[in-house]
Amino acid sequence: MRKKIVAGNWKCNTTLAEGVALAKQVSNLVAERGAKDVVVVLGTPFTHLASVASAIEAENVFVAAQNCAAEPKGAFTGEVSVSMIQSTGAAYVILGHSERREYYHETSEILNKKVALALAQGLIPIYCCGEALAIREAGTENAFVKTQLEETIFNLSADDFKKIVIAYEPIWAIGTGRTASSQQAQDMLAFIRQLIATKFDQTIANDCSILYGGSCSPANAKELFGQPDIDGGLIGGASLKAEDFLSIINAY
Ligand code: PGA
Repeated sequence: MRKKIVAGNWKCNTTLAEGVALAKQVSNLVAERGAKDVVVVLGTPFTHLASVASAIEAENVFVAAQNCAAEPKGAFTGEVSVSMIQSTGAAYVILGHSERREYYHETSEILNKKVALALAQGLIPIYCCGEALAIREAGTENAFVKTQLEETIFNLSADDFKKIVIAYEPIWAIGTGRTASSQQAQDMLAFIRQLIATKFDQTIANDCSILYGGSCSPANAKELFGQPDIDGGLIGGASLKAEDFLSIINAY
């Protein structure tokens, strides 16, 4: 079933105490809001997962890790496995974020391993894709995103693909204040949905939640979320302030 999802990506921000306080604030505001039409996800640092998972009370608020190890367990110093993540109470994992692809050299091969491990552990991947500015300026963004999907989640079985959430995040819009126009975002998400229909089938395409990310804010969320193919957002900066994050949720 296609869900509306507003997911926060806290990145490398907040101490444990700050993160728990933020999560409680969001959870209380979401509970007060009452309507359970939107799935809310908090993408916290690894160190916060368990505490945040036990601090949230609203039943439609879930916790996500921002990454996972590409191996199930073993001698990989500093890595955090999918079973560790799942054992904290987290339900989602953000994978393939452009910052991880760029700064930590995550390739399609690595991401395929991570997606498979996450799915096997029952975690829901929020799989990110999106092009850099030079690609957008060259007008080749559709081909670029198509390749990103074809090299990774399009290789999943239909049953596994149905469990995935996709986030399209043009790199030029992330943290820059320069959001994609609602038309640019809608066009890309409609294109992705069409690719899914061709690769799998129309029902799977219709049921897939596809999010937009990149400078999504209380000011532009309503227009973005009003587009027919945009099923919510992956929110960076604005997810660090509970009121701003709630305003984005309330854009629905
Ligand atoms: P931003 O980040 O909302 O701060 O642009 C989005 C993201 O990187 O997920």
